[in-house]
Amino acid sequence: MDWRRLGLACLCLLAVLPNGQCGRVLSVVLPGPQSHLFGMKKVSEAVAARGHAVQFLALDTDAAKLQPTNIPISTYTLPPRRPGELDAASLKLNGPQTFLQAIGQITNLFENACCSLLSNDTLMDQLKEYNPELMLAETMSPCTQVLASRLDVPFVNFWLAAPIEPFATSLWRGSNRNAFTPNPLAYFPQMETNIQTQHMSFVERLKNFVTYWKFQWQDYTIVRPLIHGFFERFGVDVNLPRERRRLTMTLCIADFAIEWLRPMPPNFKLIGPLLPEPARPLPADLEAFMEGAGDNGVLYVAMGTVATLGLKERQAMAAAFAKLPSRVLWRLSKSELPDENAIADLHLGNNTKVATWLPQNDVLGHPRTKAFLSHCGVNGLYEAAYHGVPIVALPFFADQPANADKAVSRGFALRVSHQDIGTERFPDTIKRVLTGPSFSAAALQLSVKLRARPRTPTQEATDCGGAPFALLKAACNSLAGGLLNGGKKKFA
Ligand SMILES: *[C@@H]1O[C@H](CO)[C@@H](O)[C@H](O)[C@H]1NC(C)=O
Ligand SMILES: *[C@@H]1O[C@H](CO)[C@@H](O)[C@H](O)[C@H]1NC(C)=O
Repeated sequence: MDWRRLGLACLCLLAVLPNGQCGRVLSVVLPGPQSHLFGMKKVSEAVAARGHAVQFLALDTDAAKLQPTNIPISTYTLPPRRPGELDAASLKLNGPQTFLQAIGQITNLFENACCSLLSNDTLMDQLKEYNPELMLAETMSPCTQVLASRLDVPFVNFWLAAPIEPFATSLWRGSNRNAFTPNPLAYFPQMETNIQTQHMSFVERLKNFVTYWKFQWQDYTIVRPLIHGFFERFGVDVNLPRERRRLTMTLCIADFAIEWLRPMPPNFKLIGPLLPEPARPLPADLEAFMEGAGDNGVLYVAMGTVATLGLKERQAMAAAFAKLPSRVLWRLSKSELPDENAIADLHLGNNTKVATWLPQNDVLGHPRTKAFLSHCGVNGLYEAAYHGVPIVALPFFADQPANADKAVSRGFALRVSHQDIGTERFPDTIKRVLTGPSFSAAALQLSVKLRARPRTPTQEATDCGGAPFALLKAACNSLAGGLLNGGKKKFA
């Protein structure tokens, strides 16, 4: 067969079918971190704005957080929580955790949600009636693969974390774990090595190598049985070619301006930071607080929605903040700050203001913001870089320590550990980042790079998320057979 002519025919078909590309998308919102929910909402709304039909599938407790939206939401509920299980509505992991501890807890939550979802006949019938042509979901939950299999649709993996190894390619990837993504140990630091450069010394390479095999061992003995047990329980055989092809593409909200350099397969695309936007004006009281800081500026403190600290650590942090020349704006979660008494318990300095909610993007974009004390989740990391704000990194788990190391290597961050809280090193490091000109210069340089993307991350995500429809509708799949493996027609 003449592949070139066939390709040309496909292109022509695509060109003459501009209105024929609209499809039905099911956007699956995982129980778990809220930053993922906001990312999914943003991309789904952009997909809908391009004329595709979109429907959300979310836990009833997450449905309110998706509002306001024009997209219809199908909901389901979680079974009552057994003692010791994670609470999905306010997912919290206390203090630093190893990767394995974190995934053990989260997989349990995913499994409960998956059972509830798949055993709800009303809901499954609704979804089958909707008959989606593509699912937008995260492979972080093995349920994504199971649901796609039940509905017999291909899916686009929306990867709301950094492409960290072995997180991104080998661990926890469902059907795509067999996809070939190179993990070059000679220059690509693995997770939990705390290596802060790609120009590794011999000892660092050795450590990298050993860590890689440690993860392979854990993968083989713990993660793989966990995930494959999950698949088996729901009757999905991910080794079947049909199942392996369901994952058509991975969209990752990162950018090589910060990420370690590495080769990527063509269906793993870095679309850039999704959530940061130009800052809008702050509410009057916040604006007054920021302006009142004068030239010493403001340190913004936020640890994301999942990680929490104990009261002792929060008090030690408050004492350290009180000694800073700058003002401090500190976001704490509702569980850490239930009432006025909880504020009094912290013994705040007179330069510190706490709140349970702050418009993070707009605070980081405010000219008085001089530094960001962050757990270094991927969203916080990129929001800070986008607004040119240097980081003091206090990572907890998962990709956060590695994100912190990348930020340090790019020159716009310093890392502190949980043991440093309560010692002089903690305020000293913050002061260094607040006042050292090299940190803000490096952050501004990154800001220029991230804003220079010719298409916004949302546009890129919808470009790619839309592509499988073009292929479906133009019947490229049936024409080109094995060339394009994504579409539903191929399965029929
Ligand atoms: C089952 O699905 C229906 C329709 O979305 C929903 O209203 C109901 O709450 C779900 N039930 C459970 C137990 O999840
Ligand atoms: C805030 O506290 C510092 C030292 O803790 C003190 O020097 C300063 O006068 C206080 N400012 C106000 C406005 O109370």
